[in-house]
Amino acid sequence: MRHLINILDLSTQEIDELVSVACDIIENPAKYAEACRGKKLATLFFEPSTRTRLSFEAAMYELGGNVLTVSSADSSSAMKGESVADTAKTVSCYADIIAMRHPKEGAPYVASINASVPVINAGDGGHNHPTQTLADLLTIYREKGRFSDMTVGLCGDLKFGRTVHSLIGAMARYPNVRFVLISPEELKLPSYVKKEILKARGIEYKQTTDLLEFMPELDILYMTRVQRERFFNEEDYLRLKDSYILEPKKLATAKPDLSIMHPLPRVNEISVAIDSDPRACYFKQVKNGKYMRMALILKLLKEAQG
Ligand code: CP
Repeated sequence: MRHLINILDLSTQEIDELVSVACDIIENPAKYAEACRGKKLATLFFEPSTRTRLSFEAAMYELGGNVLTVSSADSSSAMKGESVADTAKTVSCYADIIAMRHPKEGAPYVASINASVPVINAGDGGHNHPTQTLADLLTIYREKGRFSDMTVGLCGDLKFGRTVHSLIGAMARYPNVRFVLISPEELKLPSYVKKEILKARGIEYKQTTDLLEFMPELDILYMTRVQRERFFNEEDYLRLKDSYILEPKKLATAKPDLSIMHPLPRVNEISVAIDSDPRACYFKQVKNGKYMRMALILKLLKEAQG
């Protein structure tokens, strides 16, 4: 059974195919309107979400399928102590495919080895968020027309930022991609990501605490939120939460074709004054997420049918 737990579960060729299907869905939505007729997606969200859950559900409806949902931990038997493994076995009796978000790293993997249907990781704690990366990749493709030959700046909470970990994993496989890691000391990229991805592949990267230091070099600036829910200590969160606020004046040295990205939700880290800048791509990412999730659901259901 094929699942998507980590973005590296997909080869670059498969990413290209998903991008191609997503672009075809954008051009020819009617062609896909009955593609999942009679199929059910279960969205099991044990952590809050707006974009990921609703885009998965919109994706399944636009493919002609139906949706079963658990939209919070306290509305399921997880509250009574049911294990992730038992939940996965149970939901496999009702649904053809599962998208799971969970605060514990590895929970969707545990679900995948117990489910009898495909499981998609819709975000596990501070670990990975592969379908956000699919949304990001389609956005990069539509903005730049390539995944290679670029400098990607990642700014904010790189320690707990699961979208950042997945995006680095995906982009590190393309030629001539460099990273600039911009964060406070306390929120630096985990050493396992540096060791297993950047150092293992010999990828060039720079680390800085200064948002402006490498701004002129960036082709992509990927801003992230400092995530209150990942901190044990409220004082630390309050001290770090406004470390970076992107405002129009800070783009003075940026490239004219910089792509400004953010997985959203944002709090203060991108001023709303940036929204009207043609380089702002974050609401395009939201839209692209639905198309890539449609392509992914089609792929995993097709492979499950054999
Ligand atoms: N980007 C993202 O995962 O957003 P949600 O938390 O709203 O799903």
